[in-house]
Parts: sequence; C-alpha cells; structure tokens
Amino acid sequence: MRTLVHIHDLSFAPFISETTIQTRVKELAAQLDAEYAGKNPIFLAVLNGAFMFAADLFKQLTCQPELSFVKVSSYVGTQSSGRVDELIGLQTALKDRHVVIIEDILDTGVTMDKIGTLLQSEQPASLAVCALLLKPASYKGKQQPQYIGFEIDDRFVVGYGLDYKELGRELPAVYQLIN
Ligand code: XMP
Ligand code: MG
Repeated sequence: MRTLVHIHDLSFAPFISETTIQTRVKELAAQLDAEYAGKNPIFLAVLNGAFMFAADLFKQLTCQPELSFVKVSSYVGTQSSGRVDELIGLQTALKDRHVVIIEDILDTGVTMDKIGTLLQSEQPASLAVCALLLKPASYKGKQQPQYIGFEIDDRFVVGYGLDYKELGRELPAVYQLIN
C-alpha cells in the first residue's frame, strides 16, 4: 500500500488496505448469498462511488444476482415545493423483487433515505442496504443498514470508488484525511 496520497489541496493516509477490503467483501458476499439464494435478487449500485465495491462484490456472489446502476438526481420541479429527487437508470420493474442497494458510504443517511423512499414506492418484496462504509457517529437514517463492510469514524475518506472533488476513485484501498 502506498504511503501518503495527495489530492488537490489535501493529504490522505492509508486507512483500510486492499487485502482487508477484499477479505471483508468475501464475507459480505457469503452473507448475501445465504440470504438471497433462490430469490432472484436485484442489486442496485449507486453511481459513481459504489462502482468498485459493486464489481468486487459481484465477483464473489453465487446467488445469481441481477445488477443495475442507478443515480440520484435532484432537480427543480414545476411545483412550488422546491427540489424533487428522482432515481435515474432504473430499467427493471422492482415490484415483488428482492432489492439490495449497494452504496459506497453512509454518512448522515440523507441520500439513503431519499433512495429508500423512492424505491419503496415501487413495492419491492424486500429492500436491504449493503454499504462498504458507515459513519455511525453521523448516521441518522430511518433504518439501520443490514450489510456493512466497516464502521469508521467521522472523518473524510477517499479511494476504492470514493472521491475528493472527483479524484481518488481509482485507488484500490481507502485513505483517510490527515490534518
Ligand atoms: P449522506 O450524508 O447523504 O452522504 O449519507 C452520502 C454521500 O456523501 C458522500 N460522502 C463521502 N464521500 N468521502 C467521500 O468521498 C467521505 O468520507 C464521504 N462522506 C460522505 C458520498 O458521496 C455518499 O454517497
Ligand atoms: Mg463524492
């Protein structure tokens, strides 16, 4: 693992190694396989951050998972209510399907709550969340995520899909901001 990584004006130190991530990804895949075998699950990976986690997770899954990539977009609607959230990229009907959302990180949980609300209206048979990282100190989401790779402290991280101003996503490990 490299030592310090410099991105834009900030420096990041090694935090979770590639080996540690891959070991944990295998454990999560085994848990998911046990739960979803025979259920024709569909996984929704949230772009951009979850692309690497989703790819590694999928290489380990044996539950015959389907995959779609989605993105949350917020636009100014025609009503006076202000901004409207929508989920883009979804091409499959989710009614009565077992759905697992794949996220890179849950921080406050606001993003996941938005996605959860949008997906519940599709009436899935079940809806679970699988996130590589969770910041428990700042998480205030409506429901506790079911599958978590690592609980981390409330400090900015990059790598393994996560970016700082669009850079750092290519790093195979996770790095944490240093002062
Ligand atoms: P919320 O607060 O809605 O945030 O749970 C989730 C989104 O915020 C971004 N985020 C981060 N991105 N390093 C990042 O690269 C971090 O430490 C971090 N914390 C939050 C991320 O896009 C996530 O989907
Ligand atoms: Mg980001």
